Amino acid sequence: MTNRVEIFDTTLRDGEQSPGASMDDHQKIEVAQQLERLGVDVIEAGFPIASEQEFESVKKVAELIKGPRIAALARTSRPDIERAGAAIENAERPVLHTFIATSPIHMEHKLQMTPEQVLEKVDGSVRYAKSLIDRVEFSAEDATRSDWDFLVRISQAAIDAGADVVNLPDTVGYTTPEEIRGMFEHVIGKVKKADHVIFSTHNHNDLGLAVANALAAVEGGARQIECTINGIGERAGNTSLEECVMAMRTRQDVLPFETGINTKEITNASKVLSNITGLVVSYNKPIVGRNAFAHEAGIHQHGMIANQMTYEIMTPESIGRSKSDLVLGKHSGKAGLAKRCEELGYDLASDEVAQLYEKFIKLADQKKEVFDDDLRILLLGLRDETFETFHLEGLNTSGKDPSMAMVELRKGEVKLSDTALGDGPVHAACMAIERIVGVSGHLEEFQIRAASPGKDAIGEAHVIVNFEKRPFTGTGASTDIIEAAVLAYLNALNKYLALTKH
Ligand code: KIV
Ligand code: ZN
Repeated sequence: MTNRVEIFDTTLRDGEQSPGASMDDHQKIEVAQQLERLGVDVIEAGFPIASEQEFESVKKVAELIKGPRIAALARTSRPDIERAGAAIENAERPVLHTFIATSPIHMEHKLQMTPEQVLEKVDGSVRYAKSLIDRVEFSAEDATRSDWDFLVRISQAAIDAGADVVNLPDTVGYTTPEEIRGMFEHVIGKVKKADHVIFSTHNHNDLGLAVANALAAVEGGARQIECTINGIGERAGNTSLEECVMAMRTRQDVLPFETGINTKEITNASKVLSNITGLVVSYNKPIVGRNAFAHEAGIHQHGMIANQMTYEIMTPESIGRSKSDLVLGKHSGKAGLAKRCEELGYDLASDEVAQLYEKFIKLADQKKEVFDDDLRILLLGLRDETFETFHLEGLNTSGKDPSMAMVELRKGEVKLSDTALGDGPVHAACMAIERIVGVSGHLEEFQIRAASPGKDAIGEAHVIVNFEKRPFTGTGASTDIIEAAVLAYLNALNKYLALTKH
């Protein structure tokens, strides 16, 4: 059996199902481009039947991303499979991923189907999917709470119907390493033509065991791990890509497996995702947390000076984390800026460099030190500007209880301004924007955080605003946190306007 483990990234599908992680097309593409640079084998782009917007974003990812395979999810019904097939038909290497539950509790209470009916569905759906798309993955949802001999029959049905990948998920994060290893050994040992397919593992982190379970499944014969950047996903999340990849890389002595991941892109991937979604990575998160390589205790620092390996089992450089991420100052030129952006994974066109440079110089005037994270925030805003209808030209706030805000916006050559009262300066400014634009939204979520260290840090704001009951995410950044919040609100509003072609 090969020791190559394929990495199937489901950040854009299972990850996106986590509360607060919803992404628009534009953001999904940005994440997909970073996944391509990271070198994942498969990108699961979404669940096309879920909505028109979801269909369109999967289609765009399928058309734009070259390199990794692009997967789309479908239940076993024909309309689901057709929709998924249509969304990925233009992909270079599409994968149609269909699933049905196989545990007694799901079959009886959710599906209200007998095991024999489920078996029939597996056969029919895999055959149909295979008639549309060359490569098919079948998943037995809630496999870890299913009868192992029934899983053998299910896997056999999927293989005989033409599946290329058989995935046995721990949907509710219930299993343990020993148990899941046994499950894979049992199924792989009993099915015929097991070597014609790749067995895959997909784990949720409800008991904090997702990574351990994924690695144990690999020891049991799985050769694909389904995972997400930063471990985002339903409830407690999915297997974290960076953790399982670095575990295999660091412990080759006991986990002699290989992946195609360019580990130097891990930090970029983590930052791109967290900047886009606003889902902050906890400081002590393995591999990508802010403190993952910080050595506070004097005794550790002493050891580190003597030999880095005393307290470090992997280097920050191996995951693309530079020792000093101080970038450039206000005397830096455009070429230096473009080069640093390229190192951060952004290949900018010359007009984008010029646009970015303007923002960079403004920021460098306000802040003494510009860090990589500041630059990432500026880059995030830059791409969004391509569809901005309204730009913030002026903002003045005063007083509290109530606060008053004067906002000036520009639409093309036209400048528009208005004043409004509100509960606090951000609320007042949003009210003034709504008076100017003539559209009103409901602020669902609002987060603000410092993007980099220091008192003069950029404030990075993330909002979710409902317009006509549809959620739109917005991001804004400024050294002034009120302005950051207002920019985020305007960003969400511009996305709504772009989508509804106001
Ligand atoms: O957790 C799960 O079972 C899933 C399947 C759809 C693969 O996400
Ligand atoms: Zn899942």
